[in-house]
Amino acid sequence: MPLVNTKEMLLKAYQGGYAVGAFNVNNMEIIQGVVAAGIEEKSPLILQVSSGARKYANPLYLKSLVDCAVKESGLPIALHLDHGDSYELCVSAIDDGFTSVMIDASHHSFEENIKITKKVVEYAHAHNVTVEAELGRLAGIEDDVNVSEKDSAYTDPSQVEEFVQRTGVDSLAISIGTSHGAFKFKGEPKLRFDILEDVSKRLPEFPIVLHGASSVLQEYIDTIQKYGGAMQGARGIPEEMLRKAASMAVCKINIDSDLRMAFTASIRKHFYDNPSHFDPRQYLSPARESIKQLVKHKIISVLGCNNKA
Ligand code: G3H
Ligand code: 13P
Ligand code: ZN
Repeated sequence: MPLVNTKEMLLKAYQGGYAVGAFNVNNMEIIQGVVAAGIEEKSPLILQVSSGARKYANPLYLKSLVDCAVKESGLPIALHLDHGDSYELCVSAIDDGFTSVMIDASHHSFEENIKITKKVVEYAHAHNVTVEAELGRLAGIEDDVNVSEKDSAYTDPSQVEEFVQRTGVDSLAISIGTSHGAFKFKGEPKLRFDILEDVSKRLPEFPIVLHGASSVLQEYIDTIQKYGGAMQGARGIPEEMLRKAASMAVCKINIDSDLRMAFTASIRKHFYDNPSHFDPRQYLSPARESIKQLVKHKIISVLGCNNKA
């Protein structure tokens, strides 16, 4: 099976009451760890690449690695551009062979967001590529820009029908209280499920996307801190909230910070336990295995997309 777009996998997720994980990938070991978990759990996968990842790894390298993963796994895999901040970047990803793109024009006015998104949709659909857009703004790092808590904004449900109808977009990222990074809440975690409910009533059978959806697992915080790291105050989205979102209209759940923490925790521990090691294969093998175990856990216990490939 070649790379697929997200149309069918998100529709099936909507109908089945589960979500597909969208995992940020930056290097070979992360791709291999995610895909190994997908193979064992027979899960569809979205591998997503940010503009930062494109700069770090060179998009052609990542595309080739993902092509290898597709060939090796036989799974339905979509290669998705995460947080494309311009029409030109989306076109470049599509021309490189990405099968799905996010145009994130949520920092523009409503009309400008519609205009840019519609233009991307026209180009993308002509190439059988699906498009995700965003309404509302999440706190944290977006588009290499730091969005402060006061500049974040929940999605206004009264705008969603017009936005989807005028742009022709295939899925919509909304803001209900999640945020990017490992420090999401100072107090108790809280998500606005009332907004999600309202949006889904207005957009029947339409896939909703949750960004900033890492859970920031305590075991990784503890390991990172135990072996010299500093992550005091890190806090993510409780898994039961993600399970609830996945049972509602949320069909794509974005996960990056949890992967970073699993990778880092493993490497920190490895160096502590093995001070004489300097061959990257010695510490990257367990780090890759740690990604695999994390993604298996997400697939089975949070997303519910095991055996859905
Ligand atoms: O939404 C942000 C993702 O975690 C990607 O982060 O731009 O540092 O690659 P990045
Ligand atoms: P996290 O920082 O919560 O992993 O979110 C990742 C994300 O939304 C990528 O687009
Ligand atoms: Zn995001």
